[in-house]
Amino acid sequence: MCGIVGYTGPRAAGQVLLDGLRRLEYRGYDSAGIALVTDDGDLFVEKRAGKVAVLRDAMGGDPPRAGIGLGHTRWATHGRPSDLNAHPHSDCTGRITVVHNGIVENFSELRDELTAGGHVLASETDTEVVAHLVEDAYRGDLADAVRAALGRLEGAYALVVMHRDEPERLVGARLNAPLIVGLGEGESFVASDAAALVAYTKQVIFLADGDVADLRPGSAVITDRAGTVVERPVDVIPWSAEAAEKGGYPHFMLKEIHEQPAALRSAMAGRVRGETICLEEIDSIRDRLTGIGRVELIACGTAYYASLVGASLLQEWLGVPARANVASEFRYSPPPLDARTLVVAVTQSGETADTIAAARLARERGATVIAVTNTVGSAITRESDAQVFLQAGPEVAVAATKTFVTQVVTLVMLAAEIAQHLGRRTQAEEAELVGALRALPEQAERAIELAAATEEMASRYADAAGFMYIGRAFGYPAALEGALKIKEISYLHAEGYAAGELKHGPISLLDADVPLVAVATRSSVYDKLISNLMEGRARDARVIAVATEGDARIESMATDVCFVPDTLEPLSTILAVIPLQLFAYHVAVARGRDVDQPRNLAKSVTVE
Ligand code: AGP
Repeated sequence: MCGIVGYTGPRAAGQVLLDGLRRLEYRGYDSAGIALVTDDGDLFVEKRAGKVAVLRDAMGGDPPRAGIGLGHTRWATHGRPSDLNAHPHSDCTGRITVVHNGIVENFSELRDELTAGGHVLASETDTEVVAHLVEDAYRGDLADAVRAALGRLEGAYALVVMHRDEPERLVGARLNAPLIVGLGEGESFVASDAAALVAYTKQVIFLADGDVADLRPGSAVITDRAGTVVERPVDVIPWSAEAAEKGGYPHFMLKEIHEQPAALRSAMAGRVRGETICLEEIDSIRDRLTGIGRVELIACGTAYYASLVGASLLQEWLGVPARANVASEFRYSPPPLDARTLVVAVTQSGETADTIAAARLARERGATVIAVTNTVGSAITRESDAQVFLQAGPEVAVAATKTFVTQVVTLVMLAAEIAQHLGRRTQAEEAELVGALRALPEQAERAIELAAATEEMASRYADAAGFMYIGRAFGYPAALEGALKIKEISYLHAEGYAAGELKHGPISLLDADVPLVAVATRSSVYDKLISNLMEGRARDARVIAVATEGDARIESMATDVCFVPDTLEPLSTILAVIPLQLFAYHVAVARGRDVDQPRNLAKSVTVE
């Protein structure tokens, strides 16, 4: 939520910021703004409600020449999206500017205190108090003033602060919100994530909670909040700037759907070896896995649906209870958590506040936490005992696609690896799974080809009043995810339901205007699913079936069929979701929606 970027060095800072904001826009797009200390020594601020393009146009595409500045793209929490509430925010003197991602929870008290002290606060935001706190604390050294102000803040923040009178210096700080430093030749960057700076440098420092980064061109000094210098390693970003571009596709979402075969290959690279699966990332916690009595998966949204697949397999293969939990609810009714509990936190961004809070609670109670994430250096990597990365490359579209399929395949590998470690799977079972995994990327390519018809289909379904998605067993998470994709990007209501539940209530929603989308791939529950599909047909609903290639029966029962290749049941979720992603994409395009940046959403949800 919210993207922030800062630059100090010889380049034209305004262009670096606008470029960075464009790449960070998936984090929030309610408003955008930049502040620069121009080469003439003036503070220049421009901020607008709306997207980065609106901001760029407001400046005629050409900000004034400056070597330092900071920028922000916002997902609104406190204060509606408007020019006034857009970041950066300034102090009373107009010399200090601040951009912020997070929530200052005690902003109301601070605001009253600052106002009583004579400060004039112009916006409705929580962030503005930070500028005024820094103003009060400023004695000629910006880093000291920021550290002093941080002591007053409760909540979460990634902040970057600039002072007009120290025109080569930026100060960044983080607590429970992401912030990284980029190091170039004679220049320094700071940003919410690597996408904003990878075009300029791949050398980065992932700041830890409590860090304060004092940046000047080509140098970064990291301290804690007391001012003591701390050492942080310099990491190298493993992907290129091109990976975060559209590469000829009209939308990132379509590009990322087509990247799924490659993403699956990458997720399995080095892990599917010979006839076995080997996740070296869990070597350090193998001893603790031996006594595991239960497994709890925690995740939100798409990652939660992927976790449903993981939970089924962990339970079946390990022979212990395993459950997928919505992370935001986990804390209100936590299961018994102790040293015999394994918790698997699944999060693409690694920054989802609900998932991090749940992982923290689990660890406090003695559980072992494995993070399954796409983001090296993210917050969840510090809240876990072992990390397994998706290796899916950057995902820019707000609607998750390639990270869903790589989450599922990674959880399948994780379940198999732990079961193997505990001696609960035979070599023959392992070899069968490995064979199916090896075939999967090519089958995903085939599923994409077979789903070409979804474009024409979408034009016939784009005016539906809503959709009902159903599935059983491994088809159920695919149905949930398919429904979420439609909701997110087309703004049509869709329900994802366990097919057996249809007759217990939601079947009353079905009619000629509410199509039924049934995940009816070959499986042990195929016949039961077909009965549910027929119940929908009997209510005049148009039926879209996702079925296995070679299923001759299905065409007579459904209005439209999307075929996918055959695979093992635990992997069927991955192939079944592909036509559902493409169908949602084409419905959204047919409805003229903003596919990559749907309204009200942000990709990385760093508030609870
Ligand atoms: C999926 O399309 C959504 N963007 C959303 O449900 C997402 O999966 C959820 O917010 C969790 O994000 P995370 O994987 O980064 O934790």
